[in-house]
Amino acid sequence: MCGIVAYLGKKPAQPILIEGLKRLEYRGYDSAGLGLINGSEIKIIKSSGRISVLEEILGEPDPKEVVGIGHTRWATHGQPNTINAHPHLDYTGKIALAHNGIIENYSTLKTWLISKGCTFKSETDTEVIANLIGYLYSNTDGKDCPKDDQNRFEWAVQHALNELVGTYGLAIICADFPEMLIGAKKGSPLILGLGKNEYVIASDAAAIVEHTTQVIYLSDNEMVTITPQGFHTKTIDNVEIHKELKQIEFSLNAIELDGFKHYMLKEIYEQPKALGMCLGGRLDLRDNRVVLGGIGKYWREFTRSKRIIINACGTAWHAGLIGEFLIEQLARINAETQYASEFRYRNPIIEDDTVVIAISQSGETADTLAAVEQARERGAITLGIVNVVGSTIARTTDAGVYLRVGPEIGVASTKAFTAQVAVLAMLGIELGRRRHLSAEQVRCYIQELSRIPSKIEDVLTLSDHIKKIAEATCDRENWLFLGRGFNYPVALEGALKLKEISYIHAEGLPAAEMKHGPIALITKGMPAVFIATKCSQYDKIIGNIEEVRARGGRTIVVANKGDDNIRPYADFLIEVPEVLEEFQPMVTVVPLQILAYHAAVLRGHDVDKPRNLAKSVTVE
Ligand code: AGP
Ligand code: GLU
Repeated sequence: MCGIVAYLGKKPAQPILIEGLKRLEYRGYDSAGLGLINGSEIKIIKSSGRISVLEEILGEPDPKEVVGIGHTRWATHGQPNTINAHPHLDYTGKIALAHNGIIENYSTLKTWLISKGCTFKSETDTEVIANLIGYLYSNTDGKDCPKDDQNRFEWAVQHALNELVGTYGLAIICADFPEMLIGAKKGSPLILGLGKNEYVIASDAAAIVEHTTQVIYLSDNEMVTITPQGFHTKTIDNVEIHKELKQIEFSLNAIELDGFKHYMLKEIYEQPKALGMCLGGRLDLRDNRVVLGGIGKYWREFTRSKRIIINACGTAWHAGLIGEFLIEQLARINAETQYASEFRYRNPIIEDDTVVIAISQSGETADTLAAVEQARERGAITLGIVNVVGSTIARTTDAGVYLRVGPEIGVASTKAFTAQVAVLAMLGIELGRRRHLSAEQVRCYIQELSRIPSKIEDVLTLSDHIKKIAEATCDRENWLFLGRGFNYPVALEGALKLKEISYIHAEGLPAAEMKHGPIALITKGMPAVFIATKCSQYDKIIGNIEEVRARGGRTIVVANKGDDNIRPYADFLIEVPEVLEEFQPMVTVVPLQILAYHAAVLRGHDVDKPRNLAKSVTVE
């Protein structure tokens, strides 16, 4: 997690780095810092807390400081205090770096470096990298290294990187080369932006797009050395490589708040448009089929597969669970959803006709990526359902479908979730069409899917009503979320949304499971959110609502507009439009997102930056 940004150009680096860090703050926000080259010295300014705290201690930008690195941290090793904040200097004070990732062998390296006389100030794994580069750079006697200093520095970086086990995105500067910036990547994202006489390195294109839309995505085990004369890319084994220039496809607008108070709220409201973009051009009503170009030649294997394993984490896992039901229902293929963090360490049986799907908004989630790698090693065809274009999972999988919903910045995932479900629905329909569905069934599914954006639009008008429900209930510390069938994963997602931004304890369950234990939790006034829209298990869920009411629970019921039958069961009623059962989650989740949002705001929390979390979980 954490965000890195670095600049080399002609403008003062400080404001550019701060602006870039703010754009990356969603990735981590427990401490932040800058390293700026001033003459032949490196100036480090860092503090615990958010970037706004760092800004308070910064002086005026110095126009001479045109090269620098910045970091916003999500601590893995060592407390989020000022000493552990990045950038870290090496023991000679000449080299500074910002790091995203984890160095797994840091302890062995640290012991060795201490035995060589290096000193450490922080508890981080990162300082080991700085000291290792510093040690190699200053102690080259008898080693086969270039004679000139500049190449010696690059050599030291390369050799240090070769000793590291773990993951890194790195931005490195050296006081001896005030006009040089080095970036390197393994397992954590790193993008190089190429502007006019200026370069920006960042963990995410959001910190680059203001300066240029021309970028190079570094791959694992690659590094880039930048000077005012240009840049060159090579592997960490010193093999020169040519990298293709790519274009960032979103505009600055997409990453601004646009009048909304929070990114989460903006992204909730964007859902009709976002789903429109996701479905756009993919639902072919004329030929009565779904077009997912990224699957291309793999349709054959997909259609014939006997087993589909979906891997994901968190919200994406909830989407995966809905995908499992959709694929089973529409395509009649065995499907199962796995927590990527568990799957990667199991000994899964992957046969010739097994396909593995990875779902990830960021495309960088370490566990999901590892699950993809494990599946590929065992010979499975892999499909990525990813939002961030060019991200590692998108590049590692054999085939892919992009969500096309634009950048999602709020840590709590909303529009990515609905789009993930939409993609899985399209996949289910097309697989079903190729296997057994009648033309009439396909038409009916496609038409219903195309109506979802406007149904979400309807739900968004309920925000004030839902806010009142939040006002009446958000003082309670324990909640239940219950649903059945396709709405059971929605209950899990509703509970996760509430937990992660309002810090209320919530449990999501298949409603019928309640009686096997959790029903013991119900006390007078405990909020229980039910998704009780018209579906095959409608009568059953009414029974479950009764069970909660009989024990004094307070029910918040998401039901269909005009369903008068359900009124007596609901202390609070949220009425949503009717949708075909299979596609309901894309609509029924929206009131739960809004409920969680209002509850968090009412409880005074920073919705976009919930405590202990980060948007992109690039550590295990
Ligand atoms: C969602 O609200 C969460 N913050 C989190 O569960 C997230 O969905 C999970 O970390 C997976 O991220 P990904 O989609 O980027 O892989
Ligand atoms: N491991 C480093 C630290 O704890 C970097 C953390 C990160 O990438 O979030 O400082």
